[in-house]
Amino acid sequence: MDSLWHASVIVLVLVFIGGSDANPAARRHGQLDVNHKKQPLQTSRPYNIAHRGSNGEIPEETAAAYLRAIEEGADFIETDILASEDGHLICFHDVTLENTTDIASRTEFAGRKRTYEVEGVNMTGWFTVDFTLRELKSLRVKQRFSFRDQQYNGKYNILTFDEFILIALHADRVVGIYPEIKNPIFINQQVKWSGGKKFEDKFVETLLKYGYKGKYMSEDWLKKPLFIQSFAPTSLIYISNITNAPKLLLIDDTTVPTQDTNQSYYEITSNGYLAFIRKHVIGIGPWKDTIVPPENDHLGPATDLVARAHALNLQVHPYTFRNENSYLHFNFHQDPYAEYEYWLREIGVDALFTDFTGSLHKYQEWTAPHQNKEKKCKGPPA
Ligand SMILES: *[C@@H]1O[C@H](CO)[C@@H](O)[C@H](O)[C@H]1NC(C)=O
Ligand SMILES: *[C@@H]1O[C@H](CO)[C@@H](O)[C@H](O)[C@H]1NC(C)=O
Ligand SMILES: *[C@@H]1O[C@H](CO)[C@@H](O)[C@H](O)[C@H]1NC(C)=O
Ligand SMILES: *[C@@H]1O[C@H](CO)[C@@H](O)[C@H](O)[C@H]1NC(C)=O
Repeated sequence: MDSLWHASVIVLVLVFIGGSDANPAARRHGQLDVNHKKQPLQTSRPYNIAHRGSNGEIPEETAAAYLRAIEEGADFIETDILASEDGHLICFHDVTLENTTDIASRTEFAGRKRTYEVEGVNMTGWFTVDFTLRELKSLRVKQRFSFRDQQYNGKYNILTFDEFILIALHADRVVGIYPEIKNPIFINQQVKWSGGKKFEDKFVETLLKYGYKGKYMSEDWLKKPLFIQSFAPTSLIYISNITNAPKLLLIDDTTVPTQDTNQSYYEITSNGYLAFIRKHVIGIGPWKDTIVPPENDHLGPATDLVARAHALNLQVHPYTFRNENSYLHFNFHQDPYAEYEYWLREIGVDALFTDFTGSLHKYQEWTAPHQNKEKKCKGPPA
């Protein structure tokens, strides 16, 4: 198994290096119907969303982390979209590079450190928006957390949005994508595109270029499943004018106002607001502790957020599920399966963002086996 996915990584990396200009392979693959006749997306149980790839094992948002997640059974691979100085869309979580790349040791970039106000806070570091794509591609990604496997540090580079999409399209079964429009206010302040285009326009253009479109569960959608996510309601409302693909509004901690409209948690989770935003989104993606606030690291009483969202026909996709004990509340007695059981059986959510796709997949195969699987190799009934 291990050697298999390493081989896939190498093949993909070669493909990417071969077309290492800004827009790799886009023209060649734009119209390619690579999902024809593949095993379809499973839709019989809550979705397994591989948060930043299988980043519990392999540095986040790299080709290797996404290939691993696909191998482990992800329904969707998840990513954060930011931009380079020259306007290319990249898969990267933080607006600054230091926590997950080798930028701090790259002396040629030492003078590129800046301070910007991001969502009302002054941040200092090396910002993606101060580097060209070529420069970003010269960096090497590393593991964010010291308690996770460090052996892959320095091996992989930053992906473009195009390369991420190609990984999903070339999977051997239908695998959906789940990109986030990340920090849109900041990106639109710092990066300018020709023709007055905004970050959101470039984001949707990229999806359309590869044929990602259509309402939830439509024929187009099932061929190339997609959820678009953002913490910024204005971005979701803006793009709902240009794509009917399903969107989710992410919801942070109760103390964090939205980055664009400055509305409080209480405002954006009121029935009135949910009834308004459902015209633009298919669901919400709340932090799990926002749904069930902990007390002294034990689960407190669950809020009614899931029930109220479901009553309005909104899906609920909470984040982020992590196997390590430091992230598991004491009720789960160091057992991530107990946490999955609680969220899937008691709370009843529609998808989970996990750092450990393999664990969630195993749990679901044991408790709700994939219905389509057996049918795959059988011919028509005699
Ligand atoms: C980088 O890591 C440090 C230490 O964990 C943390 O305080 C900081 O917020 C991180 N930076 C970003 C941009 O997430
Ligand atoms: C950020 O720093 C600038 C320059 O020192 C200052 O004018 C601004 O008020 C600061 N912003 C915040 C949110 O602290
Ligand atoms: C949607 O598009 C129409 C026509 O281009 C425009 O008038 C309207 O302002 C747009 N709405 C939003 C929310 O961007
Ligand atoms: C956001 O709202 C808070 C609380 O009402 C207020 O203190 C703050 O100044 C507002 N920020 C902006 C940028 O409007």
